[in-house]
Amino acid sequence: MIRIKTSEDIEKIRAACAVVRDTLAYVGKRIRAGMTTKEVDALVHDYIVACGATPSSLGYYGYPASACVSVNEVVVHGIPSDRVIRDGDIVSVDITAEKDGYNGDACRTFCIGNVSPEKRKLVKVTEECFFKAVQDLKAGTPLYDIGYQVQTHAEANGFGVVRAFVGHGIGREMHEDPSVPNYGRKGTGVRLKANTTLCIEPMITLGDYRVKTLSDGWTAVTLDNSPAAHYENTVLITESGVEILTL
Ligand code: MF3
Ligand code: CO
Ligand code: CO
Repeated sequence: MIRIKTSEDIEKIRAACAVVRDTLAYVGKRIRAGMTTKEVDALVHDYIVACGATPSSLGYYGYPASACVSVNEVVVHGIPSDRVIRDGDIVSVDITAEKDGYNGDACRTFCIGNVSPEKRKLVKVTEECFFKAVQDLKAGTPLYDIGYQVQTHAEANGFGVVRAFVGHGIGREMHEDPSVPNYGRKGTGVRLKANTTLCIEPMITLGDYRVKTLSDGWTAVTLDNSPAAHYENTVLITESGVEILTL
């Protein structure tokens, strides 16, 4: 069931999203080659807590950290570790924060130092996929138009669309209905209503879109070890368009 948010819900989601937005900006200024992914996680944890919020990912189904830090071939759910970030890596940092009982969720893929043109293009196109998806999005839009827009843009650029993970509704829970796939047929799916809050999160690969999960039960990597990028924002559907709450 898709929960339509009240104006009180929306104000609280907005506040949680502001924490996520500010945390990602803070990390973006500090992330660099030589850091471990654990050090990135510590930045995220401490910043969220200093904002009077809680990292929702910590302990979520046993997830052991505050951020998902996914380097190169890691698509999503990279568990922070002693892996050192190197010049030329692309690193996605995905965070969810809870404030006053409500969540905000967003992800950025950062280019570290001298990144190859093809990986830079992957990161750029992944961001563009998000903006294509929200361009005409408003109350009344069929749900799977979102995935249609993402898939069309990614595949036009020769990239793969991850199917195994999807976007989602958000509110009191990190993951609410509906699932928001990054692929789909235009004109299909439920018509979205105003005051729905969604996380739209294209996960795009340079090669094969298929993924596998490592033995830690979380880390999802591309089957062919090709690089992947991830870009996510929490958005509010309105009568006339969308408000991007984590920008
Ligand atoms: N932030 C992720 C999402 O976009 C979910 C985090 S999974 C967790 O849906 F285990 F880290 F919590
Ligand atoms: Co996320
Ligand atoms: Co999400």
